[in-house]
Amino acid sequence: MSTKDPALFYQCHVFCCTNVRPPNHERGSCARKGAVELRDKMKAMAKDMGLKGVRINSAGCLDRCELGPTMVIYPEGVWYRFENEADVREILTTHVKGGGRVARLMMQPEDGPKKGG
Ligand code: FES
Repeated sequence: MSTKDPALFYQCHVFCCTNVRPPNHERGSCARKGAVELRDKMKAMAKDMGLKGVRINSAGCLDRCELGPTMVIYPEGVWYRFENEADVREILTTHVKGGGRVARLMMQPEDGPKKGG
């Protein structure tokens, strides 16, 4: 049996956190900052753009709630904060379609929160 990784099933797999917490939760939650609507818009935009091999999925909490709404794109493992439709469009156009990066929205590991053990 081969120990090589299989070929990618999706060329680009986007996970948007759509977790919701009570309104007064200390960490907040992406759904309370518009993530569900923006995820829906991103899916529709990707379809309109005719992007192939791309999957936009909802995710549970990605554990960077304070910085949200958050998404992570694989196979690169690049994280973004997205606040509005323009952000989502730029991520799709520049990163997903164009293979570039949207520096102004990219989250760095040191942006926190501290990784749990
Ligand atoms: S609620 Fe979205 S990262 Fe935790």
